[in-house]
Amino acid sequence: MLEIDGLRISYRGTEVLHGIDLRIEPGERIGLIGESGSGKTTIGRALLGLVRPTAGTVSFEGTSLTDLDRARKRRFRAAVQPVFQEGAETLNPRRLVGASLADGLTAARRFGTAQTRTVDELLRLVELDPQFAERRPSELSGGQRQRVSIARALAVGPSVLVLDEPTSALDPTTQAHIVDLIEALATDEQLGYVLISHNLAIIDRLCDTVHVLRQGEIVESGSRSQIIDDPQHEYTRRLRDSVAELLLD
Ligand SMILES: Nc1ncnc2c1ncn2[C@@H]1O[C@H](COP(=O)(O)OP(=O)(O)OP(=O)(O)O)[C@@H](O)[C@H]1O
Ligand SMILES: [Mg+2]
Repeated sequence: MLEIDGLRISYRGTEVLHGIDLRIEPGERIGLIGESGSGKTTIGRALLGLVRPTAGTVSFEGTSLTDLDRARKRRFRAAVQPVFQEGAETLNPRRLVGASLADGLTAARRFGTAQTRTVDELLRLVELDPQFAERRPSELSGGQRQRVSIARALAVGPSVLVLDEPTSALDPTTQAHIVDLIEALATDEQLGYVLISHNLAIIDRLCDTVHVLRQGEIVESGSRSQIIDDPQHEYTRRLRDSVAELLLD
């Protein structure tokens, strides 16, 4: 459904991704881990069509994002939705929550996604009371804000979410609640996702397939159990050991 082939990306002449290959099948739950600066967010942005490859391709249903016709581009916009830390970049701080969610529903109609939900239903889907529609993002806790940003993504009717550190700004209890929510939504809504996280415990809970990134290259890929229980690469072992103290339950 989404595929990356030989992807290279440079910022101001400095290459930060050196030939990445990745496939995302419908409903697949992929984890991306790697130390800070290894290129995780850049891969996420490339999957959303937000950065231009210097070489290689990102393709949606077999066509490069750069060659999508208007109808397909609309389908792509609806199909792949971002969730960043605490709603940064995806929630307009000046708009009421209800208005942001209504924007998402309008976008869904424009993109031709079958979407019959209301703002109230979206809020309930992320376990928030409908009266939160009347608040601004600054009037919410971090966990509530992240629920709203997930609802905003779901409003558009996506089949894949790009979740970039969706819980790292939250305290451990709130993290655990958001992890539970993502897990429940993925099952109920048949969503696939690419989950970017430093936290191996979260990847362990939420992902089937894991790719380990170091300095712009994938050094190890495999099933969740292969990567987490039996990492082959010394770098992966170090990542695992460095987050051992953060393990949830
Ligand atoms: N807009 C930009 N302009 C220039 N360089 C950038 C830009 N965005 C990222 N970089 C550089 O690209 C590299 C990869 O960054 P990226 O944000 O993808 O890493 P990351 O794995 O997401 O890190 P973190 O875990 O800290 O979020 C880093 O060296 C970073 O400094
Ligand atoms: Mg990042």
